[in-house]
Amino acid sequence: MNADLFAEPIHVESQADCEFYHSIELKNGERTAGKWDLDYDEYLGHVDVAGKLALDIGTANGALTWAMEDRGADVIGYDLSIDDEWDVIPSMHDDHRATFESRAEIVSRLHRGWWYCHERNQSKARAVYGHVYDLPVELGPVDISVFGAILLHLRDPFRALQAASRITSETIVVTEMLPKIPEAALELPVAKLMPVPEGRLHLWTWWHLTPELVVRMLDLLGFGDASVSYHTQKQVSGDQSMYTVVANRTLDLDPHRGF
Ligand SMILES: C[S@@+](CC[C@H](N)C(=O)[O-])C[C@H]1O[C@@H](n2cnc3c(N)ncnc32)[C@H](O)[C@@H]1O
Repeated sequence: MNADLFAEPIHVESQADCEFYHSIELKNGERTAGKWDLDYDEYLGHVDVAGKLALDIGTANGALTWAMEDRGADVIGYDLSIDDEWDVIPSMHDDHRATFESRAEIVSRLHRGWWYCHERNQSKARAVYGHVYDLPVELGPVDISVFGAILLHLRDPFRALQAASRITSETIVVTEMLPKIPEAALELPVAKLMPVPEGRLHLWTWWHLTPELVVRMLDLLGFGDASVSYHTQKQVSGDQSMYTVVANRTLDLDPHRGF
């Protein structure tokens, strides 16, 4: 693995300089002020990470990184770099530039949140920044890649899974919101485009993806041994139904297939 890929640690003085999605209990007894309070075992689909090299894709303030490290994994947190643009939905109803800039500010504050926790947890995890579509091949092979609530934010979720499939030797874990889609439609591997046409909110959230669709995509990418679990996660505005797909590799990565 190329050491140049890893971000230099930064010291962050105060939680006020950070953005926290998650309420995390740090090793020094502090708690971060985020709105999600996750059950990590459920969220990670009970995958056994002990002794594994795990890639936490869309690490944000690192909640899953610290959880996997606690469970014995060596973890690399990956998130959007400050030079890459969030896949903002290019709606003609919105000021695209303003939405992009507000996302960039949040990403930068999330990075600071990650390093704030890293120092207080005396963590050995490493951080790499870039667009998920450009996951560096030199980052691999990792044993496990985790996509925690990131595919919904991507214009092309398949491309992101494909990028991870190239560098993941054993298992890909995907956790997403459970879409509120009529029962009949759930028989199909569907996706729902999130924002309403004139909606000014959530122009950074593209999809509600069904578990069936995620399983189908991972199967195409050679991760054909999949199981789906369902769970409820706590959020300040109420409980959120979610699902986790744990998919194990069933086909060897063969460069001759042109991946
Ligand atoms: C909703 S948070 C998920 C946080 C955590 N993984 C979880 O499951 O709760 C989505 C994360 O994905 C990151 N992200 C969004 N677009 C990205 C992209 N194109 N490439 C890499 N990371 C991205 C965001 O910066 C953010 O940290």
